[in-house]
Amino acid sequence: MRISVPEFKKAIWSHYRKNGRHSLPWRQTRDPYRILVSEVMLQQTQVDRVLPKYQSFLKKFPSFKALASASLQSVLVEWKGLGYNRRALGLKRAAEAVMKEHNGKVPRDYTSLLKLPGIGPYTAHAVRAFAWNEPDTFIETNIRGVYIHHFFPKAKKVDDTKLLPFIEKTLDTKNPREWYYALMDYGTYLKKTIGNASRKSASYSKQSKFKGSHRELRALVLHMITQKKKISVKNIATAIHRKETDVVSVVAELKKDGFVKQNKSSVHIA
Ligand code: ADE
Repeated sequence: MRISVPEFKKAIWSHYRKNGRHSLPWRQTRDPYRILVSEVMLQQTQVDRVLPKYQSFLKKFPSFKALASASLQSVLVEWKGLGYNRRALGLKRAAEAVMKEHNGKVPRDYTSLLKLPGIGPYTAHAVRAFAWNEPDTFIETNIRGVYIHHFFPKAKKVDDTKLLPFIEKTLDTKNPREWYYALMDYGTYLKKTIGNASRKSASYSKQSKFKGSHRELRALVLHMITQKKKISVKNIATAIHRKETDVVSVVAELKKDGFVKQNKSSVHIA
């Protein structure tokens, strides 16, 4: 038997009252900048690893203005350790767009948020809910696990389109901000106790192995370039003990993505 909606709500709130992570720093603020930074960092990285980086990043770049006017190099240096550098690039470009196109204020409406570089549907909804308490319906991995566990306990694969009506039906429209905090905390608790129910999601994909991956090579090459004003492809290859042809193709990718610029054989951060 599936749990009823009122029972479900009661369970989530009760867990939150007793075990909610009320002191997480991004829950102590309504500043859309600080909330956006946290959501981008938390996308592919665990809370414990985000916490120290979050504080130091905000110290160095306390506002959209600071981030927009900083060099990409300094942002990448600060991002080191979090991985998935594309997120840092996206965040920096988003800050530039906020300064240039929105007079330094993040737009509140969903469509404009979604147009900012690096901001997808989840991030746009999350910023709206956490900064402005907007009653949006959205889903992320921990929330997904909660709804699959309680409303589709027997299913093998569940599509998000099946889950969204339940998210809408159970949403606390008076206090969506805390409701989503509560759902995320409950999701984290479920994952720790019964395992990862979001594996049964149709959109589940395991984070790929870093060691020996192409992603690792990209990160290594980008790191080398970040450390120098400029560096040749040949010197990168020598320093990291890789074939020059491999480095050439990675540099081409980094160029295409907007991380680096190339001047003949010499490469530097964009
Ligand atoms: N609180 C607000 N957003 C969060 C997230 N993405 N993960 C964990 N806790 C959060």
